[in-house]
Amino acid sequence: MKPTLVISSGAGISAESGISTFRDAGGLWENYPVMDVASATGFRKAPGLVHRFYNERRKALLDARPNAAHRALVDLEKDFDVRVITQNVDDLHERAGSSDVLHLHGELMKIRSVSNPGYVESLDIDHLETTPATRGKNGDLMRPHIVFFEEPVPNIEAAVELVRKADIFVVVGTSLVVYPAAGLLQFVRPGVPVYYIDPHPAAVPQSVHIIAKKASEGLAELTRILRAAGQRS
Ligand code: APR
Repeated sequence: MKPTLVISSGAGISAESGISTFRDAGGLWENYPVMDVASATGFRKAPGLVHRFYNERRKALLDARPNAAHRALVDLEKDFDVRVITQNVDDLHERAGSSDVLHLHGELMKIRSVSNPGYVESLDIDHLETTPATRGKNGDLMRPHIVFFEEPVPNIEAAVELVRKADIFVVVGTSLVVYPAAGLLQFVRPGVPVYYIDPHPAAVPQSVHIIAKKASEGLAELTRILRAAGQRS
C-alpha cells in the first residue's frame, strides 16, 4: 500500500508552461476586470464578454504543454498514491498523465448546461469557441464549465476528504488568497508533513516546510527529499 501524497496546485504550476497566473505582475487580473469576466454577476450582465474571455484562454491553452513540474507529479506515482487537487482550469495535469485530478474551479475544455449544472460536455478541439447561443447535444443553452466568483465550489467536500487522508500534503504555486481552496491546509491530520513550493510564498504556519523555488525545481527537490526519506524508513 503506497502512502497517499495529496497535491494542491495553483496557477504557479502552469507558469512554466507559459500560462499566465492571476496575481503576478502582468497576470490575468491585471489585464481583465475579474468581476466582469469571472463572476456570476458579470456572466449575468454580459455573457458574451465572459464567453470571449474563456475562448481566449482556451486558445492560449492549445499552445501550452505540460512542464517538468506536471511531469514530476506523474513520476511520483511510482512511490505514492498521488491525488491532485487543482484550482487550475487547464488540462495540463491530465495531459502530463496524472491519473487522479480533482478540479475545484472547473475545466476550461468543458461546457455545461445553464439550466442543469450536472450536464457537462467536453469541447472538441476544432470547436473551442462558445457564445451565449451555444447549445449542447441535448439542446440546453451552455456556459463555460468554470466556477465563477460568487458561486459555490461543488468539489470542495471531496477535496477536504482527500486532504484528511493525506500522509504527505504539498501545496504548489498558489497565493493562498482564494477560499475555500486556500483553507485545505487546515484539514491535514496532526503530524502529517506539509510542503509549500512557491518562489514568493504567502504566509503559512511555522510547521510548513517552504521550498521557495519555481514548481519544476521545487518538485525535483521534494522528490529527492521524499525518496531519501523512503530509503531510510
Ligand atoms: N512556480 C511555482 N509558483 C509560481 C511560479 C512558478 N514558476 N510563478 C509564480 N508562482 C506563484 C506565485 O508566487 C503565486 O503565489 O504562483 C502563485 C500564483 O498565484 P495566483 O496568481 O493568485 O494564482 P492562484 O493562487 O492559483 O489563484 C487562485 O484565484 O482568480 C482565481 O480561480 C482563480 O484558481 C484561481 C484562484
